[in-house]
Amino acid sequence: MMPKRKMLIAANWKMNGSQNLTKTLLEGLAVATQGSENEIAVFPPYPYLALTQDILRATPIRFGAQDLSAHDEGAYTGEVSASMLTDMGCYYVLIGHSERRAYHQESNELLLQKYQRASQQGLNPILCLGETQSERNANLTFQVINSQLLPFLTQDYLANMTIAYEPVWAIGTGKTATPDEAQVVHAFIREKIAEKDSSLANKIRILYGGSVKPNNARELFSLPDVDGGLIGGASLKKEEFIQLCRTTKI
Ligand code: PGA
Repeated sequence: MMPKRKMLIAANWKMNGSQNLTKTLLEGLAVATQGSENEIAVFPPYPYLALTQDILRATPIRFGAQDLSAHDEGAYTGEVSASMLTDMGCYYVLIGHSERRAYHQESNELLLQKYQRASQQGLNPILCLGETQSERNANLTFQVINSQLLPFLTQDYLANMTIAYEPVWAIGTGKTATPDEAQVVHAFIREKIAEKDSSLANKIRILYGGSVKPNNARELFSLPDVDGGLIGGASLKKEEFIQLCRTTKI
């Protein structure tokens, strides 16, 4: 029997929001998702983590940060360490979102350091992977995914890993991967993990991200190797995100 993986619906707010929006979204979410079959997590900007911790304290909704420093502590102006995140009650942290890779030139080496810091502090990393449109056009999708994934496939790292496959061309564009396009990459990722550890490969969740909306979520989330979603734009709209949190597999 294949283990049943609990779906994770995660909200990546990116650099959006305010104290007011944080309150409105989270208070609404806490009430509307009571008893949810899915795990729910939110990723607000750093300044709203304290408020998030406060609002979500008595709920099963988890939260995390969108990034972290590769350093432990010290003279790194503007950086936020893994231990600060755990201190604020973070459970997850996103690592290697395509916007970080593209706008901050985050390399595999740097992401490995961040992953290590997160793991050492007991944070659960969500490793984001995805190819650009030109890489897809050049038939490089599997090669790119493999190169982003391979450095992290060590026994130490696999234990608490979640993956988010987010084709860059689908992020914020309204252009979602078709179910076939998503499934084939998710299956490839799981196969690569299985080459290292087949029992963990069945347990690790692989989320899909990129223009997930209430009208396409059910089909995507029902794919055999899709275990939920990382949601950007739609996670800032209370009713849409609540609908996504309530989506179950067909
Ligand atoms: P999107 O963003 O849902 O707005 O496409 C997803 C993401 O970047 O995590």
